[in-house]
Amino acid sequence: MAAIRLCVLLVWATITAATAQSRVSPDKPSDTLDKEFHRQRREQLRKQLPARSVAVFFAAPVRNRSNDVDHYYHQDPDFYYLTGYTEPNAVLIVYAEPQTINGKQVKELLFVQPNNAQAELWNGKRLGVEGSAATLGITTQPNTAFKSYLDKADLQQVYIKPLPTDVRDDERDNADLYSLVEQFRAKNVKADEKALEIVMGQMREEKTPEEINLLRKAVTISALGQIEVMKAMQPNMSELEVQGLHEFVHNKYGAHHVGYPSIVGAGNNGCVLHYIESGKPSISNNELVLMDVGAEYKGYTADVTRTIPANGKFSPEQKAIYELVLKAQDAGIEQCKVGNDFSAPGQAAQEVIAEGLVKLGIIKNKSEARRYFPHGTSHYIGLDVHDAGTYGPFKANSVITVEPGIYIPDGSPCDKKWWGIGIRIEDDILITDKGWENLSKLAPRTVADIEKAMAQPSALDDFKLPEIK
Ligand code: GLY
Ligand code: MN
Ligand code: MN
Repeated sequence: MAAIRLCVLLVWATITAATAQSRVSPDKPSDTLDKEFHRQRREQLRKQLPARSVAVFFAAPVRNRSNDVDHYYHQDPDFYYLTGYTEPNAVLIVYAEPQTINGKQVKELLFVQPNNAQAELWNGKRLGVEGSAATLGITTQPNTAFKSYLDKADLQQVYIKPLPTDVRDDERDNADLYSLVEQFRAKNVKADEKALEIVMGQMREEKTPEEINLLRKAVTISALGQIEVMKAMQPNMSELEVQGLHEFVHNKYGAHHVGYPSIVGAGNNGCVLHYIESGKPSISNNELVLMDVGAEYKGYTADVTRTIPANGKFSPEQKAIYELVLKAQDAGIEQCKVGNDFSAPGQAAQEVIAEGLVKLGIIKNKSEARRYFPHGTSHYIGLDVHDAGTYGPFKANSVITVEPGIYIPDGSPCDKKWWGIGIRIEDDILITDKGWENLSKLAPRTVADIEKAMAQPSALDDFKLPEIK
């Protein structure tokens, strides 16, 4: 009996140990890009550098908001892609061939801000020089050493991202970005500022499996936000409240930010393409609400738009325009195939909308359609919402938006029954070897599915706060 019990205990101990080993620490989520990802990106870049050249990248500068408050820091996407480093005041140098500097062979160097107890007391931990080397798997130096490396390296051809022009000095740090940029200028190296943009665009266009994983998560979180807001929507809510509900859902699922300022426009405000004021205090019963909101998850951003009737039911005019935009979007998505020109979804959508607007009597000639559909349908998404890429023929593993819209502001030269209708439908499409996948399909898209979702209760319905005057 005792032997059996011991045996059970041993099995249990083994299972527990295995589970503990595979359990992910809450501080180290499993879906973060690792140092191998960034190392491979640098290798990919290096292979494209001509002999005896060097590529130089500066971290994004800290932007001052006002007085002693800075804007939330956001790393330059190329810098993040190549290093994983999320702090300012840093420089990355990637050499085409290994260099001997101070007796050591290096092929790349990351200059980072050193630990600084006083700065870290106020603004949080820095990775520091050793910490950056260990965490990011790259040879590091304090940023104060940048100048001597510039003097010693054999820099024949320098590729550099355009230097930031609006950085400010910070006397709390002895080698901030401003000084680094000045040192670089003083060296007066002839730099090609365009080439890197092209190379980085080519690289960032085709996403790796890890990146697609993160994009999938960002898009799913955004779709969950759209679903919850559809369920919670009530006339008389403010645009700001609707925006807040989306962003609360994002935060709840671990997305710290939106990838661009949220666009929530009711009625005529929905006709302003990038309306970010959220200024209407009370959405009317008969208005549509256009919601273009994208969660950013681990640096990767979604870009999803849904347009819904505040009262849960589309009017006949709203429905007619909605279904036209939907048909245009379907036609656009069908064009998302490897090899098709980047403009193909836009052209297909444009054709459908022009024809439909003529049929509805809103325009007389197809050539007038641009008045009501004045933008393109597609851009890549990734570390930027309008992500870097070639904007050439579609390649597998790129992710693009397809987002047609029709906007008929008050006073437009058509029957006034159409006025104030602004509709955009935007989905995030992964181009695959076999065709495409709609990553945001979880968010209801058809009239029937939206009305069905809006009839359901929301987890947010009981979230009542006291009134204030
Ligand atoms: N959210 C901006 C855009 O759709 O491009
Ligand atoms: Mn977009
Ligand atoms: Mn958008």
